[in-house]
Amino acid sequence: MRGAAIEIVCMVLCSYFDCIIVWYDDGMDTIDNRQIEYMALGELMTRLHPQNPKSHDLGAIIQSYQTHGFVASGILDDRTGLFLAGHGRIQALDSMKRQHMDVPDGIRNGGDDWLVPVQVGYSSKNDVQAKAYIVADNKLTVLGGWDEPALAELLQEVAGSVDVALESTGFSGDDLDELLSDLNEPPTWKPDVDTADPSGDGIEELIGYGLSSFWKDLSRENEISKYMLTLPPAIDTKSGSTIKAQFSRTNATATERIVKTYMRTGDVFYEMCCGWMTFSSTAKYFGFSGKGGDIWDTSLKFCKRQILAMPGDGNIEVVYADCRDTKESTNYYDFVHSNPPFFSLETYGGGADDLAATNDYDMWINAMGEMAVEACRILTPGGLANFVINDYRDGGILIPMHSDFINSILSKSELMLHDFVVAEVLSQSIRFRKRVQYPARYTVKCHEYIITFKKPTETGC
Ligand SMILES: C[S@@+](CC[C@H](N)C(=O)[O-])C[C@H]1O[C@@H](n2cnc3c(N)ncnc32)[C@H](O)[C@@H]1O
Repeated sequence: MRGAAIEIVCMVLCSYFDCIIVWYDDGMDTIDNRQIEYMALGELMTRLHPQNPKSHDLGAIIQSYQTHGFVASGILDDRTGLFLAGHGRIQALDSMKRQHMDVPDGIRNGGDDWLVPVQVGYSSKNDVQAKAYIVADNKLTVLGGWDEPALAELLQEVAGSVDVALESTGFSGDDLDELLSDLNEPPTWKPDVDTADPSGDGIEELIGYGLSSFWKDLSRENEISKYMLTLPPAIDTKSGSTIKAQFSRTNATATERIVKTYMRTGDVFYEMCCGWMTFSSTAKYFGFSGKGGDIWDTSLKFCKRQILAMPGDGNIEVVYADCRDTKESTNYYDFVHSNPPFFSLETYGGGADDLAATNDYDMWINAMGEMAVEACRILTPGGLANFVINDYRDGGILIPMHSDFINSILSKSELMLHDFVVAEVLSQSIRFRKRVQYPARYTVKCHEYIITFKKPTETGC
């Protein structure tokens, strides 16, 4: 009852004085009237706690103000009148003013002095508790450390932006390089076994897996998945809905198996329709060098970041290239990989060169054949072209996309069928959208095909 009466008085006073009063009914009848006041910088410089043990990199704080403005206010202790938090922030402002630098956003120019927002209304219990808080306010933010791959991803995004300086985060380019090299754990597998056709029967000895197999247990977690960056959000352009929260990407365990099964020591590769560089970055991790080409600026931008984020000894180049006309040299690459658009089930750039933008299945199948002709041209004789493809349903009918794909390639190019793997993709949750989200078409949910072709050794393409 007493609490309710005080609450009413508080509400009346609060509306009268236009202040913020928050009532806590915690049984202690406490009134918390924290608020922000603007105070002169010169005055605030006299309020620094004489025993504050934290030193500051004022240059870094100033750089942050120049990008972000003055975002978070310091805290004054009502009991002592001294700062509990924000010493570095005030000292950095004082340094800027002395150097006649511009007033940062969030600070008011009061003529002779700068006016700085500061939080008031909190009273410490005693001197020891106040000093303990000064330490806690600094220490608690660093406890727990960083999720380093997430930090590296975020910093690379800032570093790649044109309008936000990396230094405004408090991290320098050197810090980022160091972070990336710390993440650069050596891979647990190296392609150091030469297994090329040891018995001369036309079938190479495989490093890890059998020919024409069924690949199971393709979990999304492997030793490289932690270096895979988050994909850009995708919007369903037809409905405007954001059902496709993200684009889909090849499972990293599948790309690992492709690399380990089909690539040989020293192979140089080309990835067509490189998309999110899942294959290229996997190959980089295991020490292979090569190039990835795509026609979509969103993908090319992402690929550059993804390659930077992936540790490994391979050198990878990202280029604009149509998979049907890569402009690469004839007979150059030992290995070609592509996970092309699955017809028009997911659209990308949407331009005339986007193979996913056609709604004509025959045109798409024909383009797949042209892609294979180009793969055959740039491959060295005997080199392998490896493609990932799916089937899809249209109005409930299963369309055998993979066999149409194989037929188009075999009829148009000189490539020969070398291997065929059915891969489980149960983990690709994107394929489990509810029926209502798929009016007519969707990919087959539980598997896709990893199909490998070989360029003839003698006849060429
Ligand atoms: C399925 S995504 C590839 C994703 C990739 N498998 C990954 O996980 O990193 C298909 C890509 O093909 C690209 N593409 C579409 N038409 C193309 C063309 N004519 N030439 C090259 N790339 C093309 C799209 O821009 C898209 O990035």
